Amino acid sequence: MKTFQTRAALNEWLLRQKSINKIIGFVPTMGALHNGHLSLIRQAKKENDLVVCSIFVNPIQFNKPEDLKKYPRTLETDLEMLSEQACDAVFYPSEKEMYPEPEKVVYDFGMLDKVMEGRYRRGHFNGVAIVVKRLFDIVQPHRAYFGNKDFQQLQIIKAMVKMESLDVEIVPCPTVREPDGLAMSSRNVRLNREQRRDASLIHTALKMAKALYTTHEVLQVKQRVTEKINASPHLEVEYFEIVWADTLLPVIEKGARREMVVGCIAVCAGEIRLIDNMAFNL
Ligand code: PAJ
Repeated sequence: MKTFQTRAALNEWLLRQKSINKIIGFVPTMGALHNGHLSLIRQAKKENDLVVCSIFVNPIQFNKPEDLKKYPRTLETDLEMLSEQACDAVFYPSEKEMYPEPEKVVYDFGMLDKVMEGRYRRGHFNGVAIVVKRLFDIVQPHRAYFGNKDFQQLQIIKAMVKMESLDVEIVPCPTVREPDGLAMSSRNVRLNREQRRDASLIHTALKMAKALYTTHEVLQVKQRVTEKINASPHLEVEYFEIVWADTLLPVIEKGARREMVVGCIAVCAGEIRLIDNMAFNL
């Protein structure tokens, strides 16, 4: 496995690979890798000649300095795990390499970044879009892989690719879960024993919501989910929204629309935020 810390070195290798028509799959990450990330690498391996993974804890997408400081950093084990998956190249630039000059772009995503995560984490998605655009410019992959776990992020990235007319296929990948249903996340290691135990309620509540949605009104479903999770003294629902998948706007009346509906949730366990979602009509 090749490792690169500078754009110049990565670029030289990429140019050589592209000159011999290699198809490149790209998996951007912030490291602290777990099986969710590795599933993206595995899918990319299947669908491309070469897989490039990036590890960069992107400061401009963190709206709380404390969260950035406490974000787990495990480069050594990350590299071992990627090597075991036969990942072809890893790019782990420094902050200076990624942002030689401060970035000033402000994207207009309409409502997409005003709701849910966007509402509770101001500026977060602009920071995500900026770093992913920069990484796409550097790697120029044929395909890029993102987890459905961060459903709103996926929609933002699709919108950015459209706005910037980038020639890259965005491939959504299924959420990988722990045996008790908790969606894998780099933040899970920060949960204490009680928080970790009760965090499985999030997935249980989403499954309940999906079942209730067929027979109940939106407001009732939202109330039941909030009650179920808040029954734990270790968890507190920040938001639970039932939205149209394409616009992320709340479903007010179920009506006759056939578009996909997704239940999206954010839960605080102490100072740790956990997000998850579930498609209701699949
Ligand atoms: P990070 O949280 O490291 O996630 C990297 C990728 O792994 C994202 O596409 C995310 O959706 C996916 N992922 C995380 N947990 C997953 C799970 N349990 N199952 C499947 N996929 C999962 O998301 C980011 O980093 C950053 O915002 C980034 C896009 C790299 C930009 O900085």
